[in-house]
Amino acid sequence: MSQQSPLASTLDMTKKPARVFSGIQPTGELHLGNYLGAVRTWRAQVEEGKDETMFCIVDAHAITVPYEAAELRAKIDAFAIDLIACGIDPEKTTLFVQSDVREHTELAWYLASVTPYGDLGRMTQFKDKGEGKEFVSAALFTYPVLMSADILLYKATVVPVGEDQVQHLELARETARRFNHRFGELFPEPKPRLSNTPRIMGLDGDSKMSKSKGNTISLFEPKEEFWNKLRTAFTDPQRLRKSDPGRPEICNIYTMHKAVSPKETQDEVVANCTGAKWGCVECKKVLFENFDKELVPLRTKREALSMDHVRQALGDGASKARRIAVETMKEVRSAMGLGSLST
Ligand code: AMP
Ligand code: TRP
Repeated sequence: MSQQSPLASTLDMTKKPARVFSGIQPTGELHLGNYLGAVRTWRAQVEEGKDETMFCIVDAHAITVPYEAAELRAKIDAFAIDLIACGIDPEKTTLFVQSDVREHTELAWYLASVTPYGDLGRMTQFKDKGEGKEFVSAALFTYPVLMSADILLYKATVVPVGEDQVQHLELARETARRFNHRFGELFPEPKPRLSNTPRIMGLDGDSKMSKSKGNTISLFEPKEEFWNKLRTAFTDPQRLRKSDPGRPEICNIYTMHKAVSPKETQDEVVANCTGAKWGCVECKKVLFENFDKELVPLRTKREALSMDHVRQALGDGASKARRIAVETMKEVRSAMGLGSLST
């Protein structure tokens, strides 16, 4: 296929290996925004094999809003299966569950001591998720501190995420700086790495595709459902009839073409949309076919995975992660003057 690698524009082959870390919350279902904004970039990093990579199912982040315990447990398994099916191969990367490594929550508390209260109140995700809710947990407010801890615990330098996480990443960078200034150089400053489609809009066209907004297409949606949702997805609002020329640059369907369709098709889309030759449904059909090509191998892989294999992989992943985490925490406690034991 001639489509662009999601890493093409950001990799510098002359740099020394980085440690790459990212996370995903086990809530809702893995959707096209997650896949095109983040998970495909993760896979590209894993396949490239140049940098050490770690990917985490962040269950402790998922409890910051009301939830059911049994459902969360099931979602952790479901996300592990989906991520492995997407090519996050546990043989080549470290895939693990956040709460299996207790050091995440320990470091979060320590980092909270160097995080300004005012900065947390400015986080747009906090405002979005908290606004108008009857119960807003303190954990939702301190959510970004736990995210900083996830990253800094492994001294990660590269964090592949969608655009909505860039603000949290800036805070993580500042937290590293503040900690280092106060207690000595310990943490590198992590940088975000964006895919070429860092913001996929929801089907309603009002806001980004998001698990909490019910405007998603799940990656592993049955084919028919996938098409039904795509068929009704929002496009250029000025395009009421086929004879109206469209504006691909503002259309979510074109954004998705950029991620999964070959370059020649992308060019065809631009010509046929601006030239009012294709209707939106025709354009969506082509997109659907290209998604299908991309997703067939993932679906096949997903069906072949056994839960035993997945659990084993998560256990191994947690052990690998823990080894690094324990070492960092020794350094952190010592730098901060905490504890009475040398281990
Ligand atoms: P979450 O589902 O919030 O845990 O997000 C997991 C990853 O997917 C993060 O890196 C997000 O930035 C990314 N992501 C979530 N929604 C979108 C979207 N609509 N467009 C692009 N990336 C997204
Ligand atoms: N906050 C991220 C999201 O909602 C998930 C996340 C938690 C994360 N910890 C992280 C992402 C560390 C990158 C690095 O998408």
